[in-house]
Amino acid sequence: MCGIIGVAGCGDETLSVVLDGLSTLEYRGYDSAGVALTDETLDVAKREGRLSVLQSALEERADPPTGEVGVGHTRWSTHGPPTDVNAHPHTDQAGRVAVVHNGIIENYQQLRDDLREEGVEFESDTDTEVVPKLIAAALDAGADPETAVREGVDRLAGSYALVVTIAGDDRLFAARNDSPLVLGIGDGAHYLASDVPAFLEHTREVVYLNDGEFATVSADDYRVTDADGTRVEKESTTVNWSAEQTGKGGYDHFMLKEIHEQPTALRQSLSGRTDALDGRVTLEELDEPGDPRRVQFVAAGTSYHAALYGAALLRQAGVPAQASLSSEYATAPAPVSTDTLVVGVTQSGETADTLSALREARDRGAETLAVTNVVGSTAARECAHALYIRAGPEICVAATKTFSSQLVTLNLLAEHLAGQDAGTRKLIPALRNLPDDLQAVLDQSVATTVVDDYLGKESFFFIGRGLHHPVALEGALKFKEITYEHAEGFAAGELKHGTLALVTPETPVFAVVTGEGERAHKTIGNVKEVQARGAPVVAVTDGVSEVQRYADHVLAVPETHERLAPVLANVQLQLVAYHMADRLSRSIDKPRNLAKSVTVE
Ligand code: F6R
Repeated sequence: MCGIIGVAGCGDETLSVVLDGLSTLEYRGYDSAGVALTDETLDVAKREGRLSVLQSALEERADPPTGEVGVGHTRWSTHGPPTDVNAHPHTDQAGRVAVVHNGIIENYQQLRDDLREEGVEFESDTDTEVVPKLIAAALDAGADPETAVREGVDRLAGSYALVVTIAGDDRLFAARNDSPLVLGIGDGAHYLASDVPAFLEHTREVVYLNDGEFATVSADDYRVTDADGTRVEKESTTVNWSAEQTGKGGYDHFMLKEIHEQPTALRQSLSGRTDALDGRVTLEELDEPGDPRRVQFVAAGTSYHAALYGAALLRQAGVPAQASLSSEYATAPAPVSTDTLVVGVTQSGETADTLSALREARDRGAETLAVTNVVGSTAARECAHALYIRAGPEICVAATKTFSSQLVTLNLLAEHLAGQDAGTRKLIPALRNLPDDLQAVLDQSVATTVVDDYLGKESFFFIGRGLHHPVALEGALKFKEITYEHAEGFAAGELKHGTLALVTPETPVFAVVTGEGERAHKTIGNVKEVQARGAPVVAVTDGVSEVQRYADHVLAVPETHERLAPVLANVQLQLVAYHMADRLSRSIDKPRNLAKSVTVE
């Protein structure tokens, strides 16, 4: 995820309007930033690091960039580390075309190869750089600027929100597919951005662009067209958000926003990594796997729950795998040999316990892999390999979208390591449908009703079996982390070995049960046990399992591949935790005593 902006008609203020806009978009990415301002020539400035680094560099310049139009970008790396060269805007060789992009160009490698054959040279590692180069090729072939942009965009596969500026042209060109892009209509000025707050200071009148639409924007006019070039009449809306809501895209908290970003996060995690036709998973970052090896996962907190899930997937595929808490592994590591792969699952890539466990494993001769969200993080740099989950930045301390992206990425890793077979072919369509299934959960959840019924209860238990066990643990962790109420998660069969003593009508039990096999059947037995003690039961289920007959409430998830049902079930539990914390007026985005990245052991 990245933040992009384009402005037309701001005269002498162009640079400050672009930079101010970027400062409101930093929540979308903050590892590097850049701007390009255009009149007869392009003036591009970009820097690795936070936006403030770029701002300082621009302040030091005797001749800051000027232009009638300008674009800006704040980056969250997916292809190539955060460096000055990889920062956006990207340009063509002659420096006529500058592009800012949010999304992932899936076919960039093929496009690069094609362009290289025509003599085009590339300087960055990014997927984006192909875009200005395609547009420049079309300009060289005689196309007018608008046609050249269209021809370039037509060749792209993947997700993108793009804003393009061309030297000598006072218009901006924009295109959208699967990444957000909104147009702001001002007085003698127009704006394009990933999110409304970027221009809210200047106008509240906005037009939301849809997938497949193009916009041509100048100081005093804008035109939206469809993929065929036919004009689309768009209605504008007036946004009415409070100042503090703006960075949250209209949501009350970053947590809720990030919960709702999950369909996009999963699309990014999957982008370019599954092929429905040949039924295979491709992870470009990793070498071709050799013989299946022993795999040890190390992780902490929410990431540990993802690691438990990843280890269970591998064991199902016949690969010996286990998950350990990093803090334990660091001082009491499992035996390793040269055929052991130790996988650190860490969204931040900076958790001290996990880094320590990975270093211990490496020193003992194991190969190491970081599964992380942060390109260039310590875990990514220190491990022999890195696999990115591509969830985009997460501001709320409580992990939500990064957990879902971890689960999806671990599915891809499991296929990669276990050797791909007919099972992979069956999994891929379900994976590709998962973002839509997740959207259905968000659209239809009745979590608020459940929360209203159980406000003020004493304790909350979460149970699940097999791949739903990590979901039960995660459901309880998220709940206690932000509600400050007591909650515990268990393997469903374990409750009767002690904790059942605590179960009363004052302790709601959330039971995650999907499908109808032996595991589901046994968990229903456990549900009956708690119900016999008077506990209210909330079933998180796909409607296939008959658990709903025994439940006081049902939180439904769409039917999917059995490996992916935990991803959907977890979203219902995120919503339960969020709404309970909201009813209790807790500090949701910054829970007491906690930090986003725990850099002490
Ligand atoms: C809980 C949460 C933490 C982290 C843990 C590890 O919502 O976010 O439990 O999962 O501190 O962090 P990473 O994944 O950065 O290693």
